[in-house]
Amino acid sequence: MNPSPNLVLVGPMGAGKSTIGRRLAERYRLEFYDLDQEVEERTGATVRLIFELEGEAGFRKRESQVLEELLDGDGRLVATGGGSVLAAENRALIAARGFVVFLAATVPQQLKRLERDRKRPLLAAPDRRARLETLAVERDPLYREVADLIVPGEELSVANAARRIAEALDASWLRPAESAA
Ligand code: S3P
Repeated sequence: MNPSPNLVLVGPMGAGKSTIGRRLAERYRLEFYDLDQEVEERTGATVRLIFELEGEAGFRKRESQVLEELLDGDGRLVATGGGSVLAAENRALIAARGFVVFLAATVPQQLKRLERDRKRPLLAAPDRRARLETLAVERDPLYREVADLIVPGEELSVANAARRIAEALDASWLRPAESAA
């Protein structure tokens, strides 16, 4: 059993981190946080606008600050953004403060789920498939590096995926209340 004060979901865009994360947070009575949403609230600007005004580097700086703030607490479920594993300091923090679930997704799954998305700046590419494939090659090893549990991309409903993940978590994650007991 692995004791960690928080649950952290990592994985690429369109893997279902936020939707599955909400279910898991309910099940384990954790406070749910979506990292992008928290960045947007604190900045008063959308992720897209932050990218436009400050570039990706500016966004990454804000993302790291908010991640640090969120993981300072206990009993939280943090659904991270797909690129938050890029910085080594973020990876160290995620691994130290969370039980980390890597929600994987295949590029075809991502393309289907994100078909109508116009919010994510990294998808604003002439060839989305190529962009997602490049990101996957770069980031897959980073997701794996921090993961305590890897969930393959499957065509499951959110409810079924959450149930499946919860079974695995029950077997391997020693939750804060349990470790305190
Ligand atoms: C990004 C993923 C997005 C968001 C931003 C950059 C990435 O989050 O943080 O658009 O670099 O993969 P989601 O993974 O929640 O889509």
